[in-house]
Amino acid sequence: MSTDELIAEARLAAEQAYAPFSRFRVGAVAVDSAGNHYSGANVENSAYGSGICAEGSAVSRAVSAGARKLDTVAVSCIDATEPGYPCGNCRQLMVEFGVERVIVDGPDGPIVHTLDELIPHMFRLDPDGR
Ligand code: THU
Repeated sequence: MSTDELIAEARLAAEQAYAPFSRFRVGAVAVDSAGNHYSGANVENSAYGSGICAEGSAVSRAVSAGARKLDTVAVSCIDATEPGYPCGNCRQLMVEFGVERVIVDGPDGPIVHTLDELIPHMFRLDPDGR
């Protein structure tokens, strides 16, 4: 699946965002190593700190369905005028499941990054050997 198609999926997911407080809708798609797609949107809360990011929604859906290795996460902040990059917390969440490619929706098309670029010197434990 092309980066354009994955961003289109993330944009569609953003339409389902529950973002009455920030009015900033975000959508994400996590693709696991078997090629399954899991979409998610940000889910805000009256207690602001209890909100969930779109990437967190998508990754949680993937992991809850049994995925443990994720190849790609695509993100779209459909209300942004500039590329909307994943927050630090979401970057760390992606580290846990070995995301190899992060695709960000940009004005001139999809922007592709590795997690090494987005979170250098990342923290990671080997779950089996810790
Ligand atoms: N948000 C995400 O969904 N993903 C990010 O990586 C950064 C921020 C959401 C959280 C909140 O609902 C809104 O964007 C404004 O911060």
